[in-house]
Amino acid sequence: MSQPLKHYLHFGDASADDYAYLFSRAALIKAKFKAYDKHQPLTDRTLAMIFEKASTRTRISFEAGMYQMGGAVVHLTTGDTQLGRAEPIEDSAKVISRMVDLVMIRTYEQTKIERFAANSRVPVINGLTNEFHPCQILADIFTFIEHRGDVNKPLDCLKGKVVAWVGDGNNMANTWLQAADLLGFTVHVSTPSGYEVNQAVAGVKNPHCFKVFTDPLQACQGADLVTTDVWTSMGYEAENEARRKAFGAWCVDSRLMAAAQPDALFMHCLPAHRGEEVQAEVIDGPQSVVWDEAENRLHVQKALMEWLLLGRL
Ligand code: CP
Ligand code: NVA
Repeated sequence: MSQPLKHYLHFGDASADDYAYLFSRAALIKAKFKAYDKHQPLTDRTLAMIFEKASTRTRISFEAGMYQMGGAVVHLTTGDTQLGRAEPIEDSAKVISRMVDLVMIRTYEQTKIERFAANSRVPVINGLTNEFHPCQILADIFTFIEHRGDVNKPLDCLKGKVVAWVGDGNNMANTWLQAADLLGFTVHVSTPSGYEVNQAVAGVKNPHCFKVFTDPLQACQGADLVTTDVWTSMGYEAENEARRKAFGAWCVDSRLMAAAQPDALFMHCLPAHRGEEVQAEVIDGPQSVVWDEAENRLHVQKALMEWLLLGRL
């Protein structure tokens, strides 16, 4: 049976109830994967992936995930398609979505993915834009639930928790704010001056879902999860030098981790730069769950693709 058309362009494109389903479903899909038990609900379905920026994790997790679910993948980049020769995004969306069942896009402005989705016959997934990275936060929260909660009541362990965000007010920070707004936890945000999160861009309704701190140490105080990201995101390379100067104090080290809860987890979406936004002692230390976090991209995105194409099963 065909499903009503749903896109996943930002974290608010699913409800809290949908997330409870997706996390439980991801746990089941992961368990089957670990047991070499076939899970192929997407036989004969095709995913087109469009990359306008580099990727390791996103490409592998979507590509391997789709093949493992019985489907096929078409990998497109700006350079080897007419997208790079200024074919209108609306025309590209109309054509691509007549030939495949699902589209994943990694691009620059959020408006670009919105224009694509508005002209697409099939679901569109945000694989990272300048403003948001919802698939990553889906994996991050699933990882937190695995370590600190119960996959049968996945949202319970999030209530009242504190996530410390140390660094750039970027696509990851915006998406953490959206998730806090929807799922009932708080983000303590500390960014250098000039790199703050923008509540309007993040699109959060409840201003109490985040608190701003000038000092990264204070942001980490009592946190259940400490997380950070590169000082310079893809597309902002021209600001590299200015950012290096501004971000020096926004480095997650053992002093910041010591301010958090004794059992606090550390996450990073990767790729990481040891000695910049995080010290090796933290990312390679006992509180770090970055490898689980990376692997979980595979499992949560399988649940997401299945849900977008087939609904709740
Ligand atoms: N975290 C993440 O999205 O990684 P890639 O840029 O390698 O896809
Ligand atoms: N904020 C980073 C995340 C990379 C996965 C970027 O946009 O480059």
